[in-house]
Amino acid sequence: MQSNHPVEVAPSILAADFSALGDAIRAVERAGVKLIHVDVMDGHFVPNISVGVPVVESLRKATRLLLDVHLMIENPEQYVGAFAEAGANMITAHQEATPHLNRVVHQIREHGCRAGVAINPATPVSTLTDILPDVDHVLVMSVNPGFGGQHFLPIANEKIAQLREMRSRYTCNFRIEVDGGIAPDTVPQVVRAGAQILVAGTSVFHTPDPAAAVLEMQRLAADAILERV
Ligand code: DX5
Ligand code: ZN
Repeated sequence: MQSNHPVEVAPSILAADFSALGDAIRAVERAGVKLIHVDVMDGHFVPNISVGVPVVESLRKATRLLLDVHLMIENPEQYVGAFAEAGANMITAHQEATPHLNRVVHQIREHGCRAGVAINPATPVSTLTDILPDVDHVLVMSVNPGFGGQHFLPIANEKIAQLREMRSRYTCNFRIEVDGGIAPDTVPQVVRAGAQILVAGTSVFHTPDPAAAVLEMQRLAADAILERV
């Protein structure tokens, strides 16, 4: 079921030059991407600080692409409204970051955004069973969140496959997103497992030609879809 949905690459601007984010976005627009992934870190939920609401506001002015805002912050419920008003189209909160995941998901939807939940590498997929019918996407972390440029953790493949199986068992509609260590060598395995949105930072923006890097991963993803069982 849903095995032939298109797979898309979502470039993560965490790996781009923060003094020239507009240029970075224009570079990947040329590859036909539809999503830009924005990593928000608070220095508490993860041991790093990145960008916040003002940057999302600026990105909103710079592009019509969908802004996929990944909240790696504690108390996400306090900030959903601000990110939605700043122009986010998709907002993802971590399962580990709030005791009120259901409330956050509905809050995101009430603000007119697509709602997602994310899980860290050590968090089982089974913790999401009761929220799956209410989400538009599930983000599987394939590195420990907080930094770009880390190595892919293969446990993500099992989680992606489990989510795909649960989606079919419970007749849900969410898309499966994977984030961390995605590059030409890891694209085929995550796509075969069932991933549909591939977040990629380093492998896109730390290359001389980000658009070419995206196109190459999209080509690898299209080949791997044919091998999906
Ligand atoms: C990590 C972030 C990722 C990060 C991925 O905590 O959630 O989105 O940008 O970076 P790469 O693709 O370099 O692993
Ligand atoms: Zn991310």
